[in-house]
Amino acid sequence: MKLRHFLEVDDLTPAELAAVLDASEQPATPVLAGQGVALIFEKPSLRTRNSSEMAVVQLGGHPAYITDAETGLDRRESAVDVCRTLQGYYSIIAARVFEHSKLTNMVSVATVPIINLLSDEAHPVQALADLLTIRQHCGPVEGLKLAWLGDFTNVARSLTIGSMMLGAHMTVGCPDGYGPSSADFDRFSALEQFGGSFSVTNDAHAAVTGVDVVNTDAWYSMGQETEAELRKPIMTPYRVDANLLSHAKPEAIFLHCLPAHRGDEATSDVLDGPQSRIWRQAHNRMHTMKGLFTWLCA
Ligand code: CP
Ligand code: NVA
Repeated sequence: MKLRHFLEVDDLTPAELAAVLDASEQPATPVLAGQGVALIFEKPSLRTRNSSEMAVVQLGGHPAYITDAETGLDRRESAVDVCRTLQGYYSIIAARVFEHSKLTNMVSVATVPIINLLSDEAHPVQALADLLTIRQHCGPVEGLKLAWLGDFTNVARSLTIGSMMLGAHMTVGCPDGYGPSSADFDRFSALEQFGGSFSVTNDAHAAVTGVDVVNTDAWYSMGQETEAELRKPIMTPYRVDANLLSHAKPEAIFLHCLPAHRGDEATSDVLDGPQSRIWRQAHNRMHTMKGLFTWLCA
């Protein structure tokens, strides 16, 4: 087992990212036989929990689903003490947390790989599935044009980093105050060395015009539910409906990490329409977890 952590996509090199995507398309081998993977969740999950569990099963290992009721990260026990304990039992520790700092704190004491299953900053395991889906439907990611619409979420940040590492061009269409931070801009500028580019606009139509892939996410993430009514009118111009999608290339695909709030960030005719690849994307979550674990074990 490599002692490598995966808190954000750029914890891998571009070559390693490509290797994980390649491993995701290979048949499963029992690389986790006799070993366990701890799956800690501070927030709800459908896709991440189930895709991770079944990936571990396919690799011959034992997945342990651990909720906040057992761990109480930084309340019942510090995140670092949870990590110090669990690494005596498990070969990999994966966690979905509110504060990204809980993951970096775990890394500071970890003797096994720490995997981010979503934090307030990043959702790198989602980006793996997004990139695999894009590669499968559009071919090599290098040179592709991607658009992100609406709130610049954890999912948006990880997809931007991953796609730019592979040489894609990302345009974000979002309202003022809901876009990338200045630290994000610095990080994305550095990734232009791989041949891609990054830009932001307030104009949703300009963002999607001529792109290969249109992506969106919830207008309010887990923990931001009280902002739902405030955000709706601000985000409405960025809703992906049939009209907005028609400005992308005719063969463009539509992606959404899910869960979808139908009629908010995307309409049902888009989510269920011929350009949507959301179910392949959701199912690729399992294949890319398999690819990531297999790469770690190699
Ligand atoms: N996309 C995603 O991470 O879904 P869950 O929150 O259901 O795991
Ligand atoms: N941005 C969303 C993604 C859910 C998979 C959230 O953090 O709730």
